[in-house]
Amino acid sequence: PETRTFRIAAIPADGVGAEVVASGRAVLDALADASDGAFAFVWEEFPWGSDYYARTGKMMADDGLEQLKDFDAIYFGAVGWPTVPDHISLWGLRLRICQSFDQWANVRPVHFLPGITSPLRKADDTELDWVVVRENSEGEYAGLGGRNLSGRGPGGEVAVQSALFTEVGCERIIRFAFDLARTRTRRKVSSVTKSNAQQYGMVLWDDVFERVAADYPDVETESVLVDAMSAKFVLHPEDLSVVVASNLNADILSDLGSALAGSLGLAASANLNPERRFPSMFEPVHGSAPDIAGQGLANPIGAVGSAALMLDHFGLPDQAARLNEAIETITGAGVLTRDVGGSATTDEVTKALIDALNN
Ligand code: NAI
Ligand code: MG
Repeated sequence: PETRTFRIAAIPADGVGAEVVASGRAVLDALADASDGAFAFVWEEFPWGSDYYARTGKMMADDGLEQLKDFDAIYFGAVGWPTVPDHISLWGLRLRICQSFDQWANVRPVHFLPGITSPLRKADDTELDWVVVRENSEGEYAGLGGRNLSGRGPGGEVAVQSALFTEVGCERIIRFAFDLARTRTRRKVSSVTKSNAQQYGMVLWDDVFERVAADYPDVETESVLVDAMSAKFVLHPEDLSVVVASNLNADILSDLGSALAGSLGLAASANLNPERRFPSMFEPVHGSAPDIAGQGLANPIGAVGSAALMLDHFGLPDQAARLNEAIETITGAGVLTRDVGGSATTDEVTKALIDALNN
């Protein structure tokens, strides 16, 4: 039989991005080597990020999107470094790719892994596993607004940052969440807004949620305000399955979720263009972690879990499951980086993952 080949654009970008992308690549290559020619990965690495910015004044090549558009997927590290203002690095690379390639669904599972202590006491004896679905194309990150730097005199600066909510944008992410809920043991969707205070966009979202929910009578629903949901993440996490929220709210909630699971370094994420008109992008939730970058301390599990989401996207769910099992095997065996209480290096975790895959 013919080898299925997947072309992947790797963009390690900044800080620990390089370390965790190298780890994920090594693990995926080991998986391909063990597949007896069933599938293979062909990588191309792009040098974009804050160093590239220092050299060129740009976060990525002018024709970067053109270079990326025919890949099967993008495997991303993290962007941001103290030498470049964060809004420039984020908008110049990651958000540019997400928005141009219409990666409107950001899927962020929250897995509780064996061998990793959660700050939640409940995690000791309750099965906890949920997924945050983040609207990834509009909302609070639409980039609408401006600053009036001088019009009102010294000290009188004014800034407006607007959020954009469209019925189409709300509907597609909410439907996506319902469809995802149907694939899970617990068929439930929790919608998160702040519609008591934000009475236009978030009320539109609530209305669409109610309308779409009627098409899924087999799925349980709830609507929760974001402040209450942050408390619920801590107090009643067993009551969650799929949590769907706007760009900013879901961004915050998914960091909370990964911290509850034990570390930001564990959390995986997929930026999907569900229509597959453009490549989707897979990346850990965490940033470039300048405080630990270059020291071999980075936890690669978020990046490796993102690689598992990429395998799912490639139509290789068995391989994704194998990878997730390997993650559970090594955390259960206590091969842990410092952020989750261990002393293993990034390379040691990578090697243990590859050994687990080959056993
Ligand atoms: P961060 O996620 O980089 O770090 C927060 C904390 O988590 C730090 O203590 C860090 O050491 C720890 N941490 C993060 N990833 C880890 C890993 N793999 N293993 C072990 N510990 C890990 O967030 P921070 O410090 O707010 O931002 C740093 C830079 O990253 C900024 O420039 C920011 O804009 C950027 N950033 C980029 C993101 C992206 O590319 N998707 C997401 C979030 C932040
Ligand atoms: Mg975030």
